[in-house]
Parts: sequence; structure tokens; C-alpha cells
Amino acid sequence: MIICFSGTGNTRSVADYLSGVIGDDVLRLPPGLMREPEKIRLAVPDGRLIWAFPVHGWGLPLTVDNVIRKMRILAHADVVHHMVCSCGDDIGCADKVWRSEIAARGWRTGSVFSVQMPNNYVAFPGFDVDAPELMQAKLDKMPERVDAIAAALESGIDATDVVRGSFPRIKTYVIGWYFRRFLTRIKPFHADDSCTGCGKCVRNCPLGCIDIVDGKPRWSGQCTMCLRCYHLCRQHAVRYGKSTDGKGQYLHPDYQLLK
Ligand SMILES: Cc1cc2nc3c(=O)[nH]c(=O)nc-3n(C[C@H](O)[C@H](O)[C@H](O)COP(=O)(O)O)c2cc1C
Repeated sequence: MIICFSGTGNTRSVADYLSGVIGDDVLRLPPGLMREPEKIRLAVPDGRLIWAFPVHGWGLPLTVDNVIRKMRILAHADVVHHMVCSCGDDIGCADKVWRSEIAARGWRTGSVFSVQMPNNYVAFPGFDVDAPELMQAKLDKMPERVDAIAAALESGIDATDVVRGSFPRIKTYVIGWYFRRFLTRIKPFHADDSCTGCGKCVRNCPLGCIDIVDGKPRWSGQCTMCLRCYHLCRQHAVRYGKSTDGKGQYLHPDYQLLK
């Protein structure tokens, strides 16, 4: 089984492609369970649970962290956990964080992999979506990369095959800590005057964190900063403070939004 969280569709495309090769089903948790993962009781009959998620701040998305800490797996001694994360560039020590979170639950870890996909992080000065050529090049390389991951998983030999980048410890444990502490707040989210109040951001938020108040979206609750709301808005009305001014938008081409 592949348990998948995705903001803008990259990880979902990786999980779907992997599922097509190895035959494991993809499980996407609904917003209600993402918010209350203590209610999750998961049976993994084939004994293999693959965690697929995007890297956030060289670590795990807050919501994935929360799910790992609180969900329950039935007959967990028989289950081996693997990680397949997507990233724009590199993951720092996210794989080590994931291994220690899984181990802290008393669960067994197997292999870890990363897949480079188009970048969707725009909420800090200097970070923007990739140029169209780079975006396309990353999308084109995905199947070959996931074929290799599938072969490694099927071989049954534990692997660590990730792009850590330079200064991985500083990225994860210093900058990543700062990111989680200060750059995941919901207060800077707002919609500008071009917002039509269509509610598409409300319907598509994976955690159900947005509602419409006085005709405009309002953010509250446990946002995980996946930025789906920013990237899906046709009016480009969703903003994060001033950090997103002049930035591009990205959604995976196969990503199906709720209308
Ligand atoms: C809040 C946030 C933080 C991110 N941090 C990183 C990072 O540390 N390293 C990286 O290479 N990409 C980073 N990215 C980019 C995403 O990991 C990448 O675009 C991923 O493929 C998005 O997957 P998704 O479409 O399934 O959400 C970040 C994206 C977001 C939204």
C-alpha cells in the first residue's frame, strides 16, 4: 500500500506511477482524517507501507509528521515502511527524520528514495516555480526514476537512494527548524481584490483549513503549507504576505481539482 500526501500533484503522480508498476494501491486520506489521524486504523495486508509525500523545509510536511505520530497500524510487526518523497531540488536529512519518526513508533523501516519534481515553494523571497524548460525536464525524467525505485523495492534489498544536497544537516536541523517554527504560520495567507469568492480553494484544501467569510477565503486550523490554494487560484488572488508577489503558479499537469 502507498499512503500518499500531495499538495500540487507531484507526489500524487509519483505514487500513481509507482502503483502502476508495483501494483500497490494508493491511499489518500480525506481532510477529516488528516486533521484527526488518531482515528486512523490501518491494516496493511501485503506487509509493505510506502510513505509518499513532498519534502517541506528539508523535512516532513507538518501533517505527515502528525499522521505518523498518531495513526494506528494493525499487526504492525509484520509491516515494513518505505519512503518515496518528491522534492524540487534536495531533501537534506529528511530521510533520517522520517526513519527516526517511524522507529519512534516501534515500526520497521526499509528503503528511502527521493524524486526531483517541479518546485512549488514560493512563500519566501528568492524562491519561485521553475522555468518551463526545467519543469518539463523534471516531469520527463520521473518515469525512469520511479521505474528504478520500483525495481529497488521489488528486489527486497534495503536502499538509501536520495539527493541530500550540500550542508544537509544545516538545511534540515537549522533552516528546517526555523522554517517549521516561523514560516508555516497561516496569518500571512490572504486573498487580494481579484478574488471572486468562488470557493475552489475551500473545496480543494487537503486539510479543510479554508472557509469563506464575507465572500473571501479565511484560513484557520492546522495548515501544512502545501500551497495548493495559492497554485490553484485562477485569479492568482491567494497571497502569502508579500512573499508571493510576482511569483509563478504550478500544478502537476495531470492533477484533477474539485470544481
Ligand atoms: C512548504 C514547502 C517547502 C518545501 N521545501 C522543499 C525543500 O526543502 N527541498 C526541496 O527540494 N523542495 C522543497 N519544496 C518543493 C516540493 O517539495 C516539491 O515541489 C514537491 O514535488 C511538491 O510535491 P506536491 O506537488 O506533491 O506537493 C517545498 C515545497 C513547499 C510547499
